[in-house]
Amino acid sequence: MTQESIPYTTTNVGIPVESDEHSLTAGPVGPILMQDHYLIEKMAQFNRERVPERVVHAKGGGAYGVFETTQDVSEFTKADLFQPGKRTRMLARFSTVAGEQGSPDTWRDPRGFALKFYTEHGNYDMVGNNTPIFFVRDPMKFQDFIRSQKRRPDSGLRDHDMQWDFWTLSPESAHMVTWLMGDRGIPKTWRHMNGYSSHTYMWVNAEGKRVWVKYHIKTDQGIDHLTQAEADQLAGSNPDAHRRDLFDAIKRGEHPSWTVYVQVMPFDDAWDYRFNPFDLTKVWPHGDYPLIEVGRMRLTENPEDFFVHIEQAAFEPSNLVPGIGPSPDKMLLGRLFSYPDTHRYRIGPNYAQLPPNRPHSPLASYAKDGPMRYEPARTGAVYAPNSYGGPDAATATWGEPAGWDVAGKMIREASPLHREDDDWGQAGTMVRTVLDDSARDRLVSNVTGHLADGVSEPVLKRALQYWRNIDKDLGDRIAAAFGQ
Ligand code: NDP
Ligand code: HEM
Repeated sequence: MTQESIPYTTTNVGIPVESDEHSLTAGPVGPILMQDHYLIEKMAQFNRERVPERVVHAKGGGAYGVFETTQDVSEFTKADLFQPGKRTRMLARFSTVAGEQGSPDTWRDPRGFALKFYTEHGNYDMVGNNTPIFFVRDPMKFQDFIRSQKRRPDSGLRDHDMQWDFWTLSPESAHMVTWLMGDRGIPKTWRHMNGYSSHTYMWVNAEGKRVWVKYHIKTDQGIDHLTQAEADQLAGSNPDAHRRDLFDAIKRGEHPSWTVYVQVMPFDDAWDYRFNPFDLTKVWPHGDYPLIEVGRMRLTENPEDFFVHIEQAAFEPSNLVPGIGPSPDKMLLGRLFSYPDTHRYRIGPNYAQLPPNRPHSPLASYAKDGPMRYEPARTGAVYAPNSYGGPDAATATWGEPAGWDVAGKMIREASPLHREDDDWGQAGTMVRTVLDDSARDRLVSNVTGHLADGVSEPVLKRALQYWRNIDKDLGDRIAAAFGQ
């Protein structure tokens, strides 16, 4: 619906209304008349203003911008947005994970880092977080993990006991929990955090050569964090601090930017690399696979309507364009199903027509009908194959599907362990070699404060052992705070 600049109010179908203030009544004390169609329209519209909030990442904000490829990475991918000099319009949405729509931006939580690129070959979505890793490595555990972080069914309260119960019974969470309890668990603002694909993806070049990649999207504003005390204070005084910061910065003309890098792993390295490169709880050490610069993204434009452009934005890891494919990371493969499914429920089956979701490239889809469809279906044949000039997938060659060889029996098992795979190692490396003394002190204080807030036996004992497994000294310091 376009909003013309006419001075009088109209109904939703453009009929002038008689009053913005008074309902139609039978006399001054008479009942309201049912024929006051405008009153009914107003109430009915209001009653339907919300779509369900996202089941996770409900609280967020975002902006439009541009991604520019500044380096030549065409030897690795043919994706049009990554060709030298290419500029591509994009949308970014940042979020917390566990909190609801109204929750404070400064709760300790990973931050979503969702990007949508409007490429020449359709929308490419890179739906990452501000963390290079995650809590679990199998999509079977995601729902349980999220339930442990959200609210209890009885009291409706969040519960640290539940969180630590899940984490300590899921040792693969150790790396991510260490990260979360450290400084980066509460970024200063969204502008001051990095983004990561976390997952491994495949890139395919024009000759069909495949490599594995991980994205690192580093803030040009400088990485910065809030202390727990600062975050607690802001949660009360300015719960929308991060949403406000991004909006105000862009409004002032301060356009935040991030430099995009990838780590590139040759296709054949994956099978016997020292860590399983498809395990979402692990990073690839920079020493093994250094960062290669790709380009820069800059956010330049606030949404003109938050609901239309941000609330209804539908990011989906399954939106992969020619030159980019998935990897055997089970979490990623699970996510390929989950997002379009939740959008059909949350927004409706025609969500792809909405402004933030519609591609900026030509559409030649056979989709038709369904609730809230407003784009006419194809005028010619609505089926394929047809003899009437409808699109034909075979008319362009996109090469082999971006995939890998598979064979074997159907199994339910953990992925094979590589030489140095274990749940504690990379977390311990972070504690010992990445953090300095003051960052380690803050980590101890953050963990101790978190555990002291409602974590009871036997979970507490397990949590102390969990930290000793990550790093003996660190674990002993945390245990000492509990006299153990
Ligand atoms: P490096 O010394 O090359 O990298 C360490 C990285 O740690 C830095 O580049 C920085 O990532 C990140 N970092 C710095 N401070 C913190 C913090 N307070 N919380 C979380 N991350 C921080 O070593 P490696 O690549 O060999 O990795 C060593 C450990 O560093 C890993 O086990 C992992 O825990 C952590 N790490 C590694 C990353 C990777 O992709 N290799 C990414 C992030 C963390 P950045 O440059 O992205 O800001
Ligand atoms: C949002 C599922 C893991 C990043 C969501 C949503 C669902 C979901 C259902 C709500 C989407 C919406 O309503 O619009 C899952 C499942 C996962 C998983 C099933 C694992 C199997 C991850 C991981 C990351 C991630 C590992 C990051 C690397 C995000 C982000 C959003 C999101 C950024 C918010 C997108 C936005 O801003 O709209 N996830 N998720 N998720 N998820 Fe995941």
